[in-house]
Amino acid sequence: MVIVTTSHNPSKYQVDRASALAKDLKIPYVNRKELKSADLEQFEYYYVVEKGRITVKFKNTTLFFHPSTAKVRMRNIKNGFKDYLIEALKLNGKELILDTTFGLGSEAILMAAFLSEGKVIGIEASTPIYVVVSHGLKEYRAKEEWVNNAMRKIEVYNDNFRSFIFRQESESFDIVYCDPMFENPVYKSSSMNPLRPFALYETLNEEDIDQMLRVARKKVVLKAHGKDTLFDRIKPDIVMGSRKSGVLYGVIFKR
Ligand SMILES: C[S@@+](CC[C@H](N)C(=O)[O-])C[C@H]1O[C@@H](n2cnc3c(N)ncnc32)[C@H](O)[C@@H]1O
Repeated sequence: MVIVTTSHNPSKYQVDRASALAKDLKIPYVNRKELKSADLEQFEYYYVVEKGRITVKFKNTTLFFHPSTAKVRMRNIKNGFKDYLIEALKLNGKELILDTTFGLGSEAILMAAFLSEGKVIGIEASTPIYVVVSHGLKEYRAKEEWVNNAMRKIEVYNDNFRSFIFRQESESFDIVYCDPMFENPVYKSSSMNPLRPFALYETLNEEDIDQMLRVARKKVVLKAHGKDTLFDRIKPDIVMGSRKSGVLYGVIFKR
């Protein structure tokens, strides 16, 4: 069972939000006062409406929204280092990008920061990840104005990209991006670890790539780990990335 509760000593606003979230998700709202730590262990996972954010908890893992990876990558770019995702995208700033595997939205925020007029549509199949991240995008206020601007250029939907793409007309996005969970997880990636228990693990197949190419006007960009089988099964036109981290980006151009 999955429930919604609040942090301890909640304000009326938190209680109202938690009740509304529970109603939206069609799951029970439970008053925090009525919950003992032992009770919490019986749930599959549970949402906590805290003061300025919504988190989701599973055993010792807490998932919450934070754009820290985007900030680190932007700092590196400003310091003159290559970011292979941004290199692979080659943006003119006006693109409509479909991010089919939104996750924490870190890469979507980075991409959106390079769009002066375009935007990013994000798709996330996992409901708990979607809830945490979609509320985070609306509520999180960064000290860095570029992060706030980038977040405003993103729309995110709770759906499986397969059914979402199936409903889209051909060539309705400039670029389609897909970053499925690696077959070989990088556990030292501390930003990804809280996401793992809630994520969907699905392997991309040729039919997925055909559908992505159908809805793309320019190209499909895929991310994989060097040890994964993805780029053996699906051969991109170009592969770029860092040998050190093993993280690769493959570009398939629309013909
Ligand atoms: C590796 S993470 C993406 C990380 C993301 N690029 C970021 O910067 O935070 C992969 C995400 O895709 C989601 N996912 C996997 N298969 C999916 C599918 N078929 N449709 C939509 N989302 C999917 C997972 O639940 C997970 O959140």
